[in-house]
Amino acid sequence: MNIDQPLALLGGISAHEFMQIYWQRKPLLIRRAIPNFKPSLSIANIRELVTREEVESRLIRHDEDGWHMETGPFEELPPASQPNWTALAQSVDLHDDATAALMRQFRFIADARLDDAMISIASDGGGVGPHFDSYDVFLLQAHGRRHWRISQQKDLSLVPELPLKILRNFQAEEEFILEPGDMLYLPPHVAHDGIALGDCMTISIGFRSPTLATLARGLMDAASDQLAAASGDGYGLYSDPPLPMPDLQARYTDPGAGATRTPAALPENLVQKTLDALNAVRFDEALASRFLGVWLTELPANSWFDIAEDPVDLHDPELPAGRLALDRCTRMMYRGEELYINGEVAPCPAGRSLRLLADEREIKVGSAAFQDLDEDALDMLNAWLDDGWLQFHPL
Ligand code: SIN
Ligand code: CO
Repeated sequence: MNIDQPLALLGGISAHEFMQIYWQRKPLLIRRAIPNFKPSLSIANIRELVTREEVESRLIRHDEDGWHMETGPFEELPPASQPNWTALAQSVDLHDDATAALMRQFRFIADARLDDAMISIASDGGGVGPHFDSYDVFLLQAHGRRHWRISQQKDLSLVPELPLKILRNFQAEEEFILEPGDMLYLPPHVAHDGIALGDCMTISIGFRSPTLATLARGLMDAASDQLAAASGDGYGLYSDPPLPMPDLQARYTDPGAGATRTPAALPENLVQKTLDALNAVRFDEALASRFLGVWLTELPANSWFDIAEDPVDLHDPELPAGRLALDRCTRMMYRGEELYINGEVAPCPAGRSLRLLADEREIKVGSAAFQDLDEDALDMLNAWLDDGWLQFHPL
């Protein structure tokens, strides 16, 4: 992607400028971000999607008794003629190629930050109420119109004891009516309320931002996995293959420990040796990237791969012209020589061609990058084809 090229998607500024001026900083309204936008899924398709077990969904209604929320799957949603409801389907990118492709227009932001594409449908008056999110979001109007009101207010206190987050004191500062193809970018913690004006569909491209505590705990889990592997206690999620770790198999010793008059007191030497043992563990960049690469590419439970019935063999000299493309559910990242895919460390190093596959999500058969793949890499790609992680599309 050319990050310096002005994009209609970002209102005529480049991805580079957007990231400098708006990302995580201030809202941006973009008229005709996608001119003549036609959603790949209709309202009827979303009504069908929320009946499925594998699709995470919610129904939110409000009436004179207040706010109500139910979680799916739903046998049936209320009729369009009934006002004030909205149904939200999470991670539609896992279930629909065109929605996944739409989400990937936002890959000027690292995959590590991109989360999912949620699609909401609403009847007149429907919405999730005034609230704020902890994540950045692009709200693309897909069908019908929605009245958005936003505020950068400091008071983010919530109405207590509700099934969803509703701001106690929402004071709109700006408002817009979005038409199909218009888009609103909101950084985290900007208060917002979007109310459907008639039948409405909105696509939210959302981002993930783990808490620092989650990152620290993940790193410690990864270190713990590595120590278990180093002591022969089998392999964990992060230790296949294991990274260098100190040998901590030596046992605690205390020669010269004096006789004690207070046997219940913890020995200070034991406390110190415990800290020394932890200080010997290597919390380094290799461990951090191993944890992040494996964790961020882990598949959500509702990912599903279609297994190719008759997969091609990439060693075949008669291989027809075509391209190899990652399945919409596949997650692939790299750092340095290490390559991560769908929650695993790939068996081959992240060479130029494999990094290109991760960045472009496809590679042309016969291209220079394809020809650079060695036998091991072709074996690995063959295995991914067998598993449906990668697909061959003939020209
Ligand atoms: C929506 O109603 O589709 C958007 C939800 C949100 O405001 O986060
Ligand atoms: Co929101």
